[in-house]
Amino acid sequence: MYSEKVMDHFTNPRNMGEIENASGVGTVGNAKCGDIMRIYLDIDENQVIRECKFKTFGCGAAVATSSMATELVKGKTINEALAVTNKAVMEALDGLPPVKVHCSLLAEEAIHAALWDYAQKNGIEIQGLEKPKADIHEDEEEEEY
Ligand code: FES
Repeated sequence: MYSEKVMDHFTNPRNMGEIENASGVGTVGNAKCGDIMRIYLDIDENQVIRECKFKTFGCGAAVATSSMATELVKGKTINEALAVTNKAVMEALDGLPPVKVHCSLLAEEAIHAALWDYAQKNGIEIQGLEKPKADIHEDEEEEEY
């Protein structure tokens, strides 16, 4: 059911942990399954992501997608990181089962939330970045947790 890459990133996640005094931190949840993901970014003066770490309280697919997402954004500029979609993360993992696709949305949204936090802290605007949702089910369901 899961690709070898998913299993690899799930059992041996890259960049797990947190960054002290991070340039940007983003937390996003999914009220439906109760899973939460937090992404920390360390961004240098040239707007390049030096370091990226994550903490995920969630399912295996959420752990694997956070791990892969951190690998994909590391070394990228903030604009390049913005282009890392959940689709790109899934492709890099050789796919996810259809019922697990929503898990990869957490990674994309958490990166956006961390970039948003960075932009707010520095008083800049990142073109193409919209205010992130705190919960990926916000639009679909009324219930909050
Ligand atoms: Fe909740 Fe995967 S089931 S993120």
